[in-house]
Amino acid sequence: MRSLVLLCVVLALSDGITRLPLERGKKLREILREKGLLHRFLQHHRYDISTKFPHAFPDVLTVVSEPLLNTLDMEYYGTISIGTPPQDFTVVFDTGSSNLWVPSISCTSPACQSHQMFNPSQSSTYKGTGQNLSIHYGTGDMEGTVGCDTVTVASLVDTNQLFGLSTSEPGQFFVYVKFDGILGLGYPSLAADGITPVFDNMMNESLLEQNLFSVYLSRETMGSTVIFGGIDESYFTGSINWIPVSYQGYWQISMDSIIVNKQEIACSSGCQAIIDTGTSLVAGPALDIGDIQSAVGANQNSYGEYSVNCSHIVAMPDVVFVIGGIQYPVPALAYTEQIQNDQGTCMSSFQNSSADLWILGDVFIRVYYSIFDRANNRVGLAKAI
Ligand SMILES: *[C@@H]1O[C@H](CO)[C@@H](O)[C@H](O)[C@H]1NC(C)=O
Ligand SMILES: *[C@@H]1O[C@H](CO)[C@@H](O)[C@H](O)[C@H]1NC(C)=O
Ligand SMILES: *[C@@H]1O[C@H](CO)[C@@H](O)[C@H](O)[C@H]1NC(C)=O
Ligand SMILES: *[C@@H]1O[C@H](CO)[C@@H](O)[C@H](O)[C@H]1NC(C)=O
Repeated sequence: MRSLVLLCVVLALSDGITRLPLERGKKLREILREKGLLHRFLQHHRYDISTKFPHAFPDVLTVVSEPLLNTLDMEYYGTISIGTPPQDFTVVFDTGSSNLWVPSISCTSPACQSHQMFNPSQSSTYKGTGQNLSIHYGTGDMEGTVGCDTVTVASLVDTNQLFGLSTSEPGQFFVYVKFDGILGLGYPSLAADGITPVFDNMMNESLLEQNLFSVYLSRETMGSTVIFGGIDESYFTGSINWIPVSYQGYWQISMDSIIVNKQEIACSSGCQAIIDTGTSLVAGPALDIGDIQSAVGANQNSYGEYSVNCSHIVAMPDVVFVIGGIQYPVPALAYTEQIQNDQGTCMSSFQNSSADLWILGDVFIRVYYSIFDRANNRVGLAKAI
């Protein structure tokens, strides 16, 4: 079944533009960028930027863009709604997990109290299931129940979606984050309770032009996006390289090696990596990470963290990830982060992972526009603008 989403992007910006041509979102974006209005547009119109219109359904958007906000290059999140009438939540679109959950009003944890909480009794389409759910992330846990309701992502209406309502979010992590919940975009095999993930439901309901989504992450507060159903060429240059998914859980791929200063420094006989929008940094096995830190000239402080003198960044080498025989250099400016209130010290964005997997997080995705293709079980990488 195809959900009909009516075209309704009418702008009322104060400089006199009230309507913009909408043959293609790319064009819209270019026009707005020329006029310096893109940020304001994204701020005011979270939904309904179409990037493609299928000829057969001129009124239907099957490629939609979900704008994300970026806090300190650590959290990227966008707004979805759940229920009838809609209750809004900000969520991380996380390719490293596969469940959707938000806080519920039956949760008394500080993390819930400081965020939007879903109230089932105020949604006429809500159905409880009596099922429990518990999910452990690298940074925090949630426990809760499973409910079923309509979930709207950008302008896509996903009916009968099972999702978690947290009743407890122990620990400190979720207290301070900007987002309310998480929307997992990994494969169904990762989903707690075997719940069909949002994207699988979208595929099953034939909501999308193509069964893929793509991610562009900016360093700016605004301008990042997840595009559901399509690829937007205005976010990258050059061609897309396709890499087969090696294991369908995370978005996992095989990596050939990691090179610094023309020398293979890690992953030398090949290794497994995941492209993970829900991880801020790049993580790998501790010994390999240590070798990379030394090779780029990062020094360990008393907390075990690695930092560099910011004024040295210009002279620091690229860290090159070789995947499918193709080199993906990440420059020092991309793998270091300025510390607030300390102009001189920059943190290295490489960190130890607890597993053997390499995690190519936001640090990598900011440099490479990433396409997550469920139809062909492959990842596409292209040089981001
Ligand atoms: C769900 O958790 C609650 C509270 O811990 C418990 O009372 C209930 O029996 C659990 N339900 C199921 C189906 O496991
Ligand atoms: C897809 O939708 C059909 C009909 O709505 C349903 O019977 C089927 O169980 C769904 N499959 C999945 C994987 O959710
Ligand atoms: C990472 O692992 C290395 C080697 O085991 C250790 O020396 C370093 O302190 C670890 N870093 C952090 C931040 O834990
Ligand atoms: C950083 O490097 C510059 C240039 O080499 C030097 O002048 C400055 O003292 C260094 N800062 C620190 C904190 O080491």
